[in-house]
Amino acid sequence: MQSEGWSSQRLYRPFVRASLIIAVVLGFSTGATILIMPVLGMDRNLTWVTHSQSHGVVQLFGWVGLFVMGFAYHVVPRFFNSPIRYPLPQKVSMWLVVLGLVLRFTGQSVYKTTFGDPLVLAGGILLFAGLLVFGWTLLEVVRRAPSRSGVSEMWAMSGIFWAVVAGALHLTVTLRMAIDSAPLADAGWNEALIYVATFGFVSSFIFAVSARAVRGFLLLKPMYERVNLVAVAGVQFGLVVLVVSRFADLTEGVASTGLILAALGVVLYVYSLRVLEPASGPVRRFAVGYERYNLLVRSAYGWLVVGCAMLIVTALDDAGVTDVMPAEVSLPVMHVFTLGFITTLLFGVASKMLPIFEGADIHHPRLMDIAYVFVTISVILRVVFGFSISAIGEQALAVSGGVGFIGICLFAIVAFQTMTEAARASYAVRAAEFGQVRFDQARRPTSSPLNLK
Ligand code: HEM
Repeated sequence: MQSEGWSSQRLYRPFVRASLIIAVVLGFSTGATILIMPVLGMDRNLTWVTHSQSHGVVQLFGWVGLFVMGFAYHVVPRFFNSPIRYPLPQKVSMWLVVLGLVLRFTGQSVYKTTFGDPLVLAGGILLFAGLLVFGWTLLEVVRRAPSRSGVSEMWAMSGIFWAVVAGALHLTVTLRMAIDSAPLADAGWNEALIYVATFGFVSSFIFAVSARAVRGFLLLKPMYERVNLVAVAGVQFGLVVLVVSRFADLTEGVASTGLILAALGVVLYVYSLRVLEPASGPVRRFAVGYERYNLLVRSAYGWLVVGCAMLIVTALDDAGVTDVMPAEVSLPVMHVFTLGFITTLLFGVASKMLPIFEGADIHHPRLMDIAYVFVTISVILRVVFGFSISAIGEQALAVSGGVGFIGICLFAIVAFQTMTEAARASYAVRAAEFGQVRFDQARRPTSSPLNLK
């Protein structure tokens, strides 16, 4: 293992590729298929539910988890100004997560056979091992860091901690499935796992990157740092309460309290980031990446606030305090977070940061436009038709699955294309031309101002 020269490595590349392949081949494809099946007259039977659970795990730890891990390996050492060991831990953690997910997915799909239980358990062990290597590698970075007190640093540490906890919870869930020879994960434990992965692992890293890089790109007004401290505490405390309540089988009211605290923490973070306020000034820079990334980032945070509001009302209903939300038929709240917030945000951040990391151009920005529109339509349909069963509702949900799947395929094309030699070459030519213009202008100070677009 080496630690010198880490900063010239592009450790995120295999992670981004693996995440997109898993998203297209296993995650979104399964989600779309199980939404289309009821329209074709198939029941929401046990096999439907086993696939929806394995879809959820593959999406959270595969599509999103691998993407976040790849970006985290790249940005966390930079945030902490501290070197990282490479490339063995990165390779090992990626393959452990990929294999773990494939085994969990396959095991739950063949639950009727004798292979089901051992495969599910092996998946749980490998996924946990992968997240442990990930957490351990980044903890080493944190340990050597000269300072750990900034906003990004705090959220990054939260992300590292909850990534390992999420892996441990998943292992516990799969262990119980294997011991009981149960085709499905325990509902309460599964819920805790999903929110730990969503808010604790994934969102913490997203918040870390937002507080540093996204804030700079969008020229946001100065952050409310004290509010952010309350936000960090709310998310941590809320998740601990949720996990304890579900695993100790406490009352619904305790679990709801945990969810509400975590959701309030998340809303406070959005407020402290000021991402939904106008920028502090015009952004005038040499254009790199997808030019509408700011719309995507802001829409994503808009969805996050909507999702938290829905989650708080749902949790109050579950605790018996209110009776406002209709029963869910297709997890609309969950998909406001996972599709509306996380997926849109990854589209936005990646379409800006991948070209910067790579020194590359995006060749087909129109595909990004369509990907964004399709994912947004997918979430809207999910919310509008996710609360009641009707013939038109089933068809709308099927459309939601189809357009969401096309959206991820288009994004995958753009992302793969950005990591090519051709994309780097065209960027190099454009940057050289820009440099030449700037040089000429510097020699003729009276000439008209630079057009940065
Ligand atoms: C077009 C995209 C998507 C489609 C069509 C889709 C579809 C589904 C369906 C049909 C279910 C079963 C629950 C139900 O609807 O009643 C489900 C559950 C779930 N989905 Fe998605 N989904 C999509 C995207 C995502 C993404 C991007 C994520 C995460 C990043 C995600 C995470 C989950 C989770 C965690 C569950 C719950 C699984 C469980 O109950 O254990 N989904 N999805």
